[in-house]
Amino acid sequence: ADTLKYETIQVRTEGRVGVITLDRPKALNALNTQLMTEVVDAATALDADQAVGAIVITGSDRAFAAGADIKEMSEKSFSDVQSERFFGDWDRLAGLSTPTIAAVNGFALGGGCELAMLCDLIIAGDTAKFGQPEITLGVIPGIGGSQRLTRAVGKAKAMDLILTGRQMKVDEAERLGLVSRVVPAEQTLSTALEVAAEIAGKSSIAASLAKEAVNRAFESGLTEGVRTERSLFYSTFATDDQTEGMAAFVEKRKPTFTHR
Ligand code: HXC
Repeated sequence: ADTLKYETIQVRTEGRVGVITLDRPKALNALNTQLMTEVVDAATALDADQAVGAIVITGSDRAFAAGADIKEMSEKSFSDVQSERFFGDWDRLAGLSTPTIAAVNGFALGGGCELAMLCDLIIAGDTAKFGQPEITLGVIPGIGGSQRLTRAVGKAKAMDLILTGRQMKVDEAERLGLVSRVVPAEQTLSTALEVAAEIAGKSSIAASLAKEAVNRAFESGLTEGVRTERSLFYSTFATDDQTEGMAAFVEKRKPTFTHR
């Protein structure tokens, strides 16, 4: 990924970890169409790079992202958003095979909360605030929030958050199971990078199959999910990493994964 071609994000790699930093500080990283296009482009390029085994998406200390860009949206009509499939490209993040981690400090509101939930794990600092305030603007979540939040925290809390638009602090978000880990805000990115490096050190094939299996649980019924898991599990036995991983255990040494 070439960071020079982007204006609203920064992209870098640290070892086997790709890092995408949202960079519209004056607008609290509000998500406009350009930022969406750049994030999806960068994430797709990192996903295709065999040298990258995990992707971290982060913002600033003050805001992960304060939602879709209201100034951009305020100009749009129904026929605009319908015909341009407004914000539809965000869905492509959910289809990446590389594990993704959102490192969240400050506001993760509206589309910002939805972007965090598009990632596989959320690591949050103790300053993080989550919410779906769309209702206060006369709209509703549009990047999967009504579906992913409900599956993540259940109907009672999803209705509470989506119908009132209130902000939720990180202790409540952790209690509800929305976030994977909570750390002091100054450690959010370093913790996310450590977790990402740990994941990236595993077999990339196994990680992508594991991610697909968990996502199937999130997206489907139990019988279909278990059936999918079984065939994904069987397929790991066609990989060099399965042979190496099990041989290393038996031989009491560390595995050397080739991601094949
Ligand atoms: C555009 C935004 C913005 C947003 C903040 N800003 N959020 N611009 N879109 N979503 C801008 C402000 O206009 C301001 O710029 C600057 O960022 C700082 O924001 P302040 O409001 O001055 O900061 P503060 O008082 O600390 O309040 C922070 C805040 C508030 C609570 C996060 O900014 C806020 O309520 N933002 C909107 C949150 C929201 O409703 N998000 C949901 C959007 S709808 P200027 O230049 O004016 O000073 C959505 C739909 C998703 O996400 C589905 C789409 C398909």
